[in-house]
Amino acid sequence: MALINTNPTKTKSWKKLQAHFEEMRDVEMKTLFQKDGNRKNNFSLSFDEIDLDYSKNRITEETLNLLLQLAQETQLSDAITKYFNGDKINVTEDRSVLHTALRNQNNNAIKVDGDDVMPEVRQALEKIRSFSDNVINGSYKGYTGEKITDIVNIGIGGSDLGPRMVVEALYYYKNHFHTHFVSNIDGDHISEILKNLNPETTLFVIVSKTFTTQETLTNAETIKKWFLEKATESDIKHNFVAVSTNLSMVKEFGIADENVFPMWNWVGGRYSLWSAVGLSISLSIGYNNFDAFLKGAFDMDEHFRKTSFENNMPVILALLTIWYNNFFDTDSEVVIPYSQYLEKLPPFLQQLSMESNGKSVDRDGNKVDYQTGNIIWGNTGTNVQHAFMQLVHQGTKIIPVDFIGFEEPLHGLKDHHEKLMANYYGQAEALYSGKTKEEVQLDMKFNGNAENINQLLPFKVFEGNKPSNAFLIKKLTPKNLGSLIALYEHKTFVQGVIWNIYSFDQFGVELGKELANKFLVN
Ligand code: F6P
Repeated sequence: MALINTNPTKTKSWKKLQAHFEEMRDVEMKTLFQKDGNRKNNFSLSFDEIDLDYSKNRITEETLNLLLQLAQETQLSDAITKYFNGDKINVTEDRSVLHTALRNQNNNAIKVDGDDVMPEVRQALEKIRSFSDNVINGSYKGYTGEKITDIVNIGIGGSDLGPRMVVEALYYYKNHFHTHFVSNIDGDHISEILKNLNPETTLFVIVSKTFTTQETLTNAETIKKWFLEKATESDIKHNFVAVSTNLSMVKEFGIADENVFPMWNWVGGRYSLWSAVGLSISLSIGYNNFDAFLKGAFDMDEHFRKTSFENNMPVILALLTIWYNNFFDTDSEVVIPYSQYLEKLPPFLQQLSMESNGKSVDRDGNKVDYQTGNIIWGNTGTNVQHAFMQLVHQGTKIIPVDFIGFEEPLHGLKDHHEKLMANYYGQAEALYSGKTKEEVQLDMKFNGNAENINQLLPFKVFEGNKPSNAFLIKKLTPKNLGSLIALYEHKTFVQGVIWNIYSFDQFGVELGKELANKFLVN
């Protein structure tokens, strides 16, 4: 069954939120902390090894209650049930949305058109496991009998960003393979990658749900041509595998049937890294780590499905976004992981959120008269502190931040980690507290700059009162990363439900493709 359509702006809670916003727009978070000595605890949540402190937001208990009412009035519970049950909630493509089935660890059946998909899912995972094991232990060999040394993932969008982000994020757990990703149709990208590869010892993983994507097929054909300079057509079956739903096109390319890994049309590209689209993850970090990654996501699924909304991490995060996006009229959110391994997390979240919720027509087909998907951007701390953070601290816009920090470093460089985390805490504190005129004056006097005070004062003041969420995660492990990604997936889902839009199609990417084809022909 489809989702229940409710225009959020016509609900009682929306009207109340509008009135409440007028009271809240200028409220200082500092005052809220003074009034409530327990604010940090009252606005914190824990899930497994992930703590979320959302106390530095411009909210009160009343804000949260009204936002929770909005979730009730827009039938979020019903939507969650339908999402996990495999109902065809992707109405415009007539599809179920079942990336959660890919990591399901329960024994329940999950049905699409009356058929349980779980046996196929388990079979595919088993195939990923045995293939990964064989390539890693060297029993699977390239066409001349040499062991594989390099993996090249060929895909774009969801068939690239997800696996690329996870392989990079879990680099600490990686084995002996060199893993490469080629996505751009820019020939310089593939040329640089091929430059250092030996066709005998390279495994090419072509990932394309449709197997019709221009970039992926062009790159795959170029690679095939390069491969055939040394090898023969019959060697392709040793060094090429594919992940796709389009079996006939895969066969036509020359890939052996046993080297095809399945995809299903009930998994959206940007949600597909949990399937065989994640083959390069399993090859790079081993199946056991891949399995732990799935388990982490499943645990977050269970939390999302079973926890009351006021303690539900994805729900709270989504409601905060709605509060800023639709009432404070903010345009964007910035995600700042304090881990170099997570450099690709912001671009991954960009696709997840912006391809899902960048819609301006509601589920009834009407143009919306309220804001929907916001802009996601970011990069790693501390690098960003020496770059764009100027604008977040002193610019004219309110830009809510997600800080993501880890209690333990992976390599154990204590001194580095202490400094890294001091910056993580420092940034959130600076955004929250700012620096008043009086504080600047005192500072300048103390530092012997008294004569310049009047001239420099306005430039050195920080308004503060800028919102942020702080995730503190015990350690960057496959399991915790799985939970974190699933958390953002569900956050995206909740936003789409409340905004009354379809989050699982992406017609907006088609026109550019069509026109590019026209320009190509002309
Ligand atoms: O063009 C957008 C898109 O369809 C994404 O949603 C998808 O992840 C990507 O292209 C790649 O598609 P495919 O896996 O079919 O090659």
